[in-house]
Amino acid sequence: MSAQVEREIGECIATKDWRKVIDIGQSSPIEERVKYLWVWPLQLDLEKIKDCFSRFGIGSVLSIGCGTGLLEWLINNATGIHISGVELDKKWWTSKYASKTYIPLVFAEAQGNVIQGQQRWHAMMFCYFNDGCAFREYVKNFNGCYVIIIGPKEGKGIHTDPLPFRVNFPTGQCWERCCELQIGSEHLNHFVIYRRQ
Ligand SMILES: C[S@@+](CC[C@H](N)C(=O)[O-])C[C@H]1O[C@@H](n2cnc3c(N)ncnc32)[C@H](O)[C@@H]1O
Repeated sequence: MSAQVEREIGECIATKDWRKVIDIGQSSPIEERVKYLWVWPLQLDLEKIKDCFSRFGIGSVLSIGCGTGLLEWLINNATGIHISGVELDKKWWTSKYASKTYIPLVFAEAQGNVIQGQQRWHAMMFCYFNDGCAFREYVKNFNGCYVIIIGPKEGKGIHTDPLPFRVNFPTGQCWERCCELQIGSEHLNHFVIYRRQ
């Protein structure tokens, strides 16, 4: 995205205009907008996500590998749920070379404190996550009831681990798929919720 687009997004963030952020994403070419955020939800998608959160009583989400946190900012502003992000490598994300970030990040060095701290997270979210072993470690240490996977349809030549419909959960744990939505205008990405059995 150009510096101008980044500035426009910054202005929308300042005024909490999440609908306009979505419009900016949609008016940028796909190959440009995915450099910024893998999954650009539409307004209707966020409304459906809000309904799902309310149906399952999900009021707080911890997003692992959130990158810039723009998706999390959109979800927070459109649904009102509390959402925090975890990333790797504080040195990089606080350097002058890193992309701008939109939510406060917690770094994986302190992940134990985040997951097992006083806040009880209802759901843990992974969007375009790409490390199956780390995924299983996070889920193993999680005591909430929902895991959300956002990612591409299988067979599209895009690697994520887990994939939304192919999730290798930690051994001995049982999770059932309870909600699935196709999101974005690319007919590529899915938002899937799993519930602990
Ligand atoms: C493909 S990016 C997706 C970023 C963002 N979720 C999105 O959809 O635009 C995967 C992110 O996961 C982060 N990541 C990888 N392993 C991680 C781990 N063990 N703990 C936290 N974050 C991790 C990477 O630093 C990277 O930012």
